[in-house]
Amino acid sequence: MRPPSMARPGWAGKVKLPEKYGPWAVIAGASQGLGEAWAREAARRGFHVVLVARRGPLLRKLAAEIASTYGVATKVVVQDLEKPGADERILSAALGLDVGLVVYNAAKSLIGPFLDQPLASHRGELAVNCAAPLGLVWHFGRLMKKKGRGGIILMSSLSCGQGSPLVAHYAATKAWNLILAEGLWHEWRPHGVDVLACVAGTVDTPAYRQSRPAADMKPMEPRRVAREGMASLGKRPSVIAGFGNKLSGFAMRRLLPRRLAIGIIGGALKKMYADGPRGKRGASCCG
Ligand SMILES: NC(=O)c1ccc[n+]([C@@H]2O[C@H](COP(=O)([O-])OP(=O)(O)OC[C@H]3O[C@@H](n4cnc5c(N)ncnc54)[C@H](OP(=O)(O)O)[C@@H]3O)[C@@H](O)[C@H]2O)c1
Repeated sequence: MRPPSMARPGWAGKVKLPEKYGPWAVIAGASQGLGEAWAREAARRGFHVVLVARRGPLLRKLAAEIASTYGVATKVVVQDLEKPGADERILSAALGLDVGLVVYNAAKSLIGPFLDQPLASHRGELAVNCAAPLGLVWHFGRLMKKKGRGGIILMSSLSCGQGSPLVAHYAATKAWNLILAEGLWHEWRPHGVDVLACVAGTVDTPAYRQSRPAADMKPMEPRRVAREGMASLGKRPSVIAGFGNKLSGFAMRRLLPRRLAIGIIGGALKKMYADGPRGKRGASCCG
């Protein structure tokens, strides 16, 4: 067996992630669903956590639970990620903390025909799903590169393996996250900064349930997605969480002709949301 000093740096089983990257984790979009799972997973692995979202009471309740369960420090930042300057406010709130991990989980997910949504809503989707992570990745990535250590995880979705009718813009923003993470994975590896895109299929979150998709869908547990994502950081540029999702991702992205893949996902989404969009806050959907 290797002595601890010779453990492979990317091997989370041997080197604790907070030791490898730094003791604090920022989870953007942490108040429920997958974000809550990311926060618990980070704390389980020993990170102190900064929890960011709009609903302060939910964040404070989660922070108290996490602190008592895992014995880590917590900080709550109530911030709307759609607002310009959100990234800078989070950076200021984390000033003085040695942030070693950033998970960008928040998303706005518009469901329905593209033109049924006002342009302002699309711009909001772009702000939450692309502009805010861009700012956080730039600010924290810069600090991490300087320190020569850090990890960044961006949430993506199976819906971005091809054009996805009825969630066309959402899927495009998720492709943006995937491609950004993969590019930075290569660019920042020599500087000790690991970047990962975590691609999820359907996940059993409040937003997913609120969208009331067809009953035959079998969503994954958020905890399993966060565990697989965290375990993949530093090992590869992107991971599709779940075996079935890996298979369907491979088929859609690599095997099927583009037109066919788009047609299949279009048909599935039409069936899934046969009565039109149902999420009140713009729920997550379809992976
Ligand atoms: N669920 C799925 O089936 C699925 C599938 C594939 C990919 N994903 C991806 O997984 C991630 C999480 O999905 P989810 O289903 O857990 O979503 P969710 O239940 O809607 O949770 C989203 C989280 O982000 C926060 N958030 C949303 N908009 C925000 C804003 N403007 N400012 C600050 N925080 C904001 C929400 O908190 P507040 O409301 O308190 O602000 C919440 O904590 C997303 O990136 C999504 O694209 C989900």
